[in-house]
Amino acid sequence: MNVTVFGTGYVGLVQGAVLADVGHQVVCVDVDAAKVERLSKGEIPIYEPGLEPLVKENHAAGRLRFTTDAAEGVKHGQVQFIAVGTPPDEDGSADLKYVLAVAETIAQHMERDQVIINKSTVPVGTADKVRDKVDHVLEARGRKDLRFDVVSNPEFLKEGSAVGDCQRPDRIIIGTASRVSEDMLRELYAPFSRQQDKMIVMDVRSAELTKYAANCMLATKISFMNEMANLAERLGADIEKVRQGIGSDPRIGYHFIYPGVGYGGSCFPKDVQALIRTAGDIDFDAKVLKAVEARNEEQKTTLFQKIDKHYQGNLAGKTFAIWGLAFKPNTDDMREAPSRVLMEALWEAGAKVQAFDPEAMEEAQRIYGNRDDLSLCGTKEATLRGADALVIVTEWQSFRAPDFEQMKQQLAEPLIFDGRNMFEPKRMAVKGFTYYSVGR
Ligand SMILES: NC(=O)c1ccc[n+]([C@@H]2O[C@H](COP(=O)([O-])OP(=O)(O)OC[C@H]3O[C@@H](n4cnc5c(N)ncnc54)[C@H](O)[C@@H]3O)[C@@H](O)[C@H]2O)c1
Repeated sequence: MNVTVFGTGYVGLVQGAVLADVGHQVVCVDVDAAKVERLSKGEIPIYEPGLEPLVKENHAAGRLRFTTDAAEGVKHGQVQFIAVGTPPDEDGSADLKYVLAVAETIAQHMERDQVIINKSTVPVGTADKVRDKVDHVLEARGRKDLRFDVVSNPEFLKEGSAVGDCQRPDRIIIGTASRVSEDMLRELYAPFSRQQDKMIVMDVRSAELTKYAANCMLATKISFMNEMANLAERLGADIEKVRQGIGSDPRIGYHFIYPGVGYGGSCFPKDVQALIRTAGDIDFDAKVLKAVEARNEEQKTTLFQKIDKHYQGNLAGKTFAIWGLAFKPNTDDMREAPSRVLMEALWEAGAKVQAFDPEAMEEAQRIYGNRDDLSLCGTKEATLRGADALVIVTEWQSFRAPDFEQMKQQLAEPLIFDGRNMFEPKRMAVKGFTYYSVGR
């Protein structure tokens, strides 16, 4: 099938590459000319395991092309994916300007009936807005003869395992009332639905809400667990034991109940906020979601609070080694990352930071530039030299078994603040470390 994807970010690029890989002819359109140029040369602007070979192979085979030419994109596709960003507006609601701009572009160039598929995470009712926008432009063009459908097909990939998630989705949510669109999407996604039928077809509004409900449920699990961790800390319990104790109940399960330093990234924070805002717009008080958000905001400050308490508020002149800048492992994404809240608080208190992340160094440089109180180090070991203490913010695999003896030699004192419970407190005590973790 001929497929056009607007937006070559985490969602559009991965989805485009995965669709090309099963044999569809895919054109990806982006307004960012530099990005399109890099992609056309086989350079991948984001870190996502397995993505680079997939893009290169399918690009070389001619099944995956990149362009800034929207007219060419619209002409190519029998279906048009919208996979552009929906960042939070000033009031926390999802900003739809990029989605609606793509809708307008499609309407300006379409010359045949079209299925417009919205993959961006958008509030309930957005499909109607896209439909209105397209209708309006077609009317202005005198092309009311052209028919189109707006389908909601939210994306559930996880950064860090995005390729695998798209190749082997748990479910494919399709929101449409049109039999023709449904058939088209069944054909498009058939290669991903072979073992069992992954397609769940529903009305558009339910599909739109499904995406928010999924992310808000996951954010709720995290905030709930962080609340339990804070309680455990104060009650003399061990949250890791509690986690195993509750996870063994299949109704609860082990997934997504790790205590830590709060959720970040480009999705959970903005999607929780956006649903609170959507609820507010219809005079509904989303009490659970507000609590989830409040707990998360506070949780992001807990590492700093522990550090500040340890040093009794005297952080000026101290230097901290930080392991992990990305909001989670296997990505270079630092949007809303807890590391940023921590570093900014340390700087505010007059401390310096020596940081390392296996993938997010370029991103950190882009965000913070050159500043005297930040050294971006080439290895995790280099961060320790001359540092007063180590702070672990992201649970990268490569941080799990460090050389503790070397660490002791390099740190001013054997002191670790661990936001991810990477190590056993008892073992750390035996090794001679003062070790702070979460909920233990
Ligand atoms: N990142 C994730 O893990 C994830 C997962 C599921 C859903 N989502 C949702 O998918 C959507 C996209 O997220 P993302 O992380 O891929 O965003 P992103 O910011 O990484 O990429 C968006 C891309 O769209 C491009 N763009 C903007 N306006 C355009 C236009 N008019 N025409 C063509 N391209 C345009 C931008 O240049 C950018 O390259 C968001 O709604 C997000 O909430 C994201």
